[in-house]
Amino acid sequence: MNSKILVTGGLGFIGSHTVVALQEKGFEVVIIDNLSNTSIDVLGGITKISQKTPVFENFDLRDKAKVKEFFEKHPDIDGVIHFAASKAVGESVINPLLYYENNLASLIYLLKELNKKENPGFIFSSSCTVYGQAKDLPITEDAPVKKAESPYGNTKQIGEEIIADTCKANPGFRAISLRYFNPIGAHPSAEIGELPIGTPQNLIPFITQTAIGEREELSVFGDDYPTPDGTCIRDYIHVMDLARAHVVALERLMENKEETNYEVFNLGTGKGNSVLEVIKSFEKVSGVKLPYKITDRREGDITAAYADTTKANDELNWKANLSLDEALDSAWKWQKEVKRRTETEN
Ligand SMILES: NC(=O)c1ccc[n+]([C@@H]2O[C@H](COP(=O)([O-])OP(=O)(O)OC[C@H]3O[C@@H](n4cnc5c(N)ncnc54)[C@H](O)[C@@H]3O)[C@@H](O)[C@H]2O)c1
Repeated sequence: MNSKILVTGGLGFIGSHTVVALQEKGFEVVIIDNLSNTSIDVLGGITKISQKTPVFENFDLRDKAKVKEFFEKHPDIDGVIHFAASKAVGESVINPLLYYENNLASLIYLLKELNKKENPGFIFSSSCTVYGQAKDLPITEDAPVKKAESPYGNTKQIGEEIIADTCKANPGFRAISLRYFNPIGAHPSAEIGELPIGTPQNLIPFITQTAIGEREELSVFGDDYPTPDGTCIRDYIHVMDLARAHVVALERLMENKEETNYEVFNLGTGKGNSVLEVIKSFEKVSGVKLPYKITDRREGDITAAYADTTKANDELNWKANLSLDEALDSAWKWQKEVKRRTETEN
């Protein structure tokens, strides 16, 4: 029998790509998603790619009774990958309680149910935001966790602590936190991708929406940072590479290969690119000239962050393979597909 994996937030951006990667490896997938930041159409996209429709349960993980009921209905879940969370930094500053409730209550309810099982395996979506502006670059997993700059960032730090404490109290509980750098791109088929609702907070959807004509121009927040071209530097990782890393991490848990029962890994390419470099790369792969203007710095943005990926390379035997050009090319294909779908609907 194939292992049965629960993917929370499995219809979201990273979750949907991971579901496809799991199905391709023969895992049976059950998704929980409340559709708060995605569309039911993503289920069709997943099915089109993998020719398999995952079981889908539409409910809110903040509903403790429903979470309990779910595990009673699916007693054979072998592992959980927990993506579901609210992720908009700015919104978290305005509405911190929504973020603490959604990102932490959901996590606790899941852990409580999993803790009843024998040797449960759990993978958590964490973020490089836990490092803030690190003193040394590239950033290793040993870099100190800085006081969070936003309630969102704080939910990732507290989330990691809750999981670490759970693992300490129950040596049979096995968990991995994956600290993502900057996930971008889409499935090469353009059947699934990132679906930002409202004004995108991340650079790539902003770029593709500008290029397609949905936005007049792109704002580059500051060109006076202490970097070679003055714009911020990030580690952009293709979502396909990221999805594959989740499968590898899950297999590590399934095969009892972990060194300790709670582990943390950075997931990035190990290379930093500036905002202007991303714009140049996008213009090259799309052939579209991007209108952009330099504006003031955005509050809370750090200067530079990119991962030291040695630990993931050596211990997970995983490495990001895809380039920035490939990621931007896939994001552009996806944006054109989104436009085509919108036009067919209207
Ligand atoms: N995208 C990034 O840049 C990034 C970077 C670092 C970490 N992360 C983390 O990775 C995870 C996935 O991110 P993403 O970009 O795929 O986000 P996403 O918003 O596309 O996906 C999250 C999914 O979870 C669902 N969801 C949210 N709250 C829920 C709830 N209470 N019950 C059930 N479903 C719920 C949403 O409908 C959505 O489909 C999140 O935990 C996020 O914080 C994302």
